[in-house]
Amino acid sequence: MVLSLSGLTCSYGPVTAIHALRIGVRAHSVVAILGANGAGKSTTLKAISGLVRPSRGSVFFNGTDITRISAAKRVKLGIAHCPEGRRVFVGETVKENLVLGGHLASKKSIDSKIAEVLELFPALERRLDQVAGSLSGGEQQMLAIGRALVSSPKLLLLDEPSLGLAPIIIRRVFEALVQINKQGTAIVLVEQNVSSALKLASYAYVLREGRIGLEGTPDELTANEQVHGLYLGG
Ligand SMILES: Nc1ncnc2c1ncn2[C@@H]1O[C@H](COP(=O)(O)OP(=O)(O)O)[C@@H](O)[C@H]1O
Ligand SMILES: [Mg+2]
Repeated sequence: MVLSLSGLTCSYGPVTAIHALRIGVRAHSVVAILGANGAGKSTTLKAISGLVRPSRGSVFFNGTDITRISAAKRVKLGIAHCPEGRRVFVGETVKENLVLGGHLASKKSIDSKIAEVLELFPALERRLDQVAGSLSGGEQQMLAIGRALVSSPKLLLLDEPSLGLAPIIIRRVFEALVQINKQGTAIVLVEQNVSSALKLASYAYVLREGRIGLEGTPDELTANEQVHGLYLGG
């Protein structure tokens, strides 16, 4: 397992956002975390990348307990978090945003990683010297993912990458995720777009009020009427 969460519990004051989660991600796999608004998806990713501190339980990365390790050290270990709402630096150029993604990496590896990102997202190459704020929503999402990739992650955490994007752009982003995964990066994908997520993932967890309500392979989940009714519009 590249990642395992064991009994992970996180609270914001009196609100318990996730409760005793047990989640496993095999090396090179894609795992989807689904669920309604407020179910605890973003909190789960933040606990993995070190942005929130769990009150109980542990986060293991490649077998090492990283629960008490800082977010910056987790980036160095190979965990990249692409947060909700594609937070790129709007006043910086595309190139500067990509360079910032690698601020913990060596200069040589930054240049070669940026070249790989531009191959993956050719739309960004034409816009390297434009400020990120001038990009379309889809291009900003590509930049946010590209910036995360510059740190050469072994595990990429994506929080609702399809949010607010047109179907054709969503398809392009998901095609890029397939490539990223083929190149050996494991992915934890948080999505409201259940059908796209289940096409990419080999295993999925459905959170409900901070707990795992259901889990299984995409086939198992699509056969499940509850998932259909709740999330697939069936
Ligand atoms: N910074 C915060 N302060 C207080 N409560 C929060 C904070 N972030 C999230 N929550 C609460 O934690 C729960 C889970 O939120 P979140 O992880 O953002 O869910 P999701 O990403 O599935 O929509 C919700 O009840 C939400 O209101
Ligand atoms: Mg969220």
